[in-house]
Amino acid sequence: MKKVVILSGAGMSAESGISTFRDAGGLWDQYPVEQVATPEGWIRDPQLVTRFYNERRKQLLEVKPNRGHELVAALEKEFDVTVVTQNIDNLHERAGSSHVIHLHGELTKVCSSRDPQNPHYIKKLKPKEYEVKIGDKAGDGSQLRPFIVWFGEAVPEIETAIRYVEQADIFIIIGTSLNVYPAAGLLHYVPAEADVYLIDPKPVDTHSRRPVHVIQKGASEGMEELLKIIS
Ligand code: APR
Repeated sequence: MKKVVILSGAGMSAESGISTFRDAGGLWDQYPVEQVATPEGWIRDPQLVTRFYNERRKQLLEVKPNRGHELVAALEKEFDVTVVTQNIDNLHERAGSSHVIHLHGELTKVCSSRDPQNPHYIKKLKPKEYEVKIGDKAGDGSQLRPFIVWFGEAVPEIETAIRYVEQADIFIIIGTSLNVYPAAGLLHYVPAEADVYLIDPKPVDTHSRRPVHVIQKGASEGMEELLKIIS
């Protein structure tokens, strides 16, 4: 089976009703990124940060995977598929993708604020636990924090992602502005002989001279078109 690696970003979930970050009216227009997505923001106002991610979790219960997620999941019938996502939602999994690497963490998980990457203290929340409160403690007695990779923090999953990208026969980029590293640099690890596709309604700078087959459409329509080419 050919190996397919997908790199997805916020645009993947846009048709499910989740805002992207950098489009007009996107999440970073509504909330200052330094307040809700940095370690400094967390130290300054954990209450605000906790509330921000509680709202994001509540939204998870209201949205569902779109046709794009479903078509990505359906690729598993024909290909050996790894999804590398920058998204913190769980829509790829809910659409049926069985191998998803979350580079920037997961909304459905919380961790220790003293030792965020310690697997002993990473906990998966049940939907009824989605509202985390100040005072809720991790196993080490520290305040629970969202299991999210904030700006300025290491991206531990990048090494695993690189291992899969290096083996790809087909690499598909969907709905990311490729502004944030190290995710944006994954294209450099794709083997020279692999085919690269990019699905996005807007032009995206890949920061690479490598030929890319651009499908300038939204995730669902773009995936339909891609399937006609690769299957
Ligand atoms: N289908 C596909 N792509 C879309 C759609 C759609 N329906 N609508 C918008 N897009 C595209 C936009 O054109 C843009 O290129 O999705 C991309 C979203 O880009 P960003 O908002 O920058 O999101 P992303 O690239 O995922 O951001 C990366 O930055 O803020 C951090 O940690 C956060 O994971 C995030 C990272």
